[in-house]
Amino acid sequence: MNIVYDILVVLHLLGMALIVAGVVMRLTAAQSPSGMVLMSGAGAQVLTGVALTGIASAGLVDNEVDNTKIAVKLGIAVIVLVLAHILWRRPQGAQGLFYTLAGLTLVNIGVAVFW
Ligand code: HEM
Repeated sequence: MNIVYDILVVLHLLGMALIVAGVVMRLTAAQSPSGMVLMSGAGAQVLTGVALTGIASAGLVDNEVDNTKIAVKLGIAVIVLVLAHILWRRPQGAQGLFYTLAGLTLVNIGVAVFW
């Protein structure tokens, strides 16, 4: 099961990279299809994050699960996913939503690394 877990960690990091790529795309080219990239990355984060937590909670790998940390990450990731969906459907939507998405993604990276 360790190999499955490690592959999911790789996919989790690639999902994060997709969100960052979507943010950079929108900052550098307003007409780019950044909404779809943001949606894909945010969706990947929720799916891979839940799968990682499930495997660890089931005791299939030797990793501790901090439920409070995971609850915070999940809450933030769902908001990021909703914002990505709004920006995908309405690319010209409020710029504040975009900066909120970028900021919350940074917060979740901080939670992942420093908590
Ligand atoms: C925007 C959303 C997210 C971002 C940017 C993000 C970022 C990260 C990063 C950078 C790591 C690696 C940290 C390290 O190994 O030191 C990580 C690990 C992890 N994340 Fe997330 N995450 C997000 C969402 C989620 C969600 C929604 C969950 C669970 C419901 C989750 C669960 C986990 C778990 C269990 C690990 C540990 C993997 C390991 O064993 O190394 N993440 N996350």
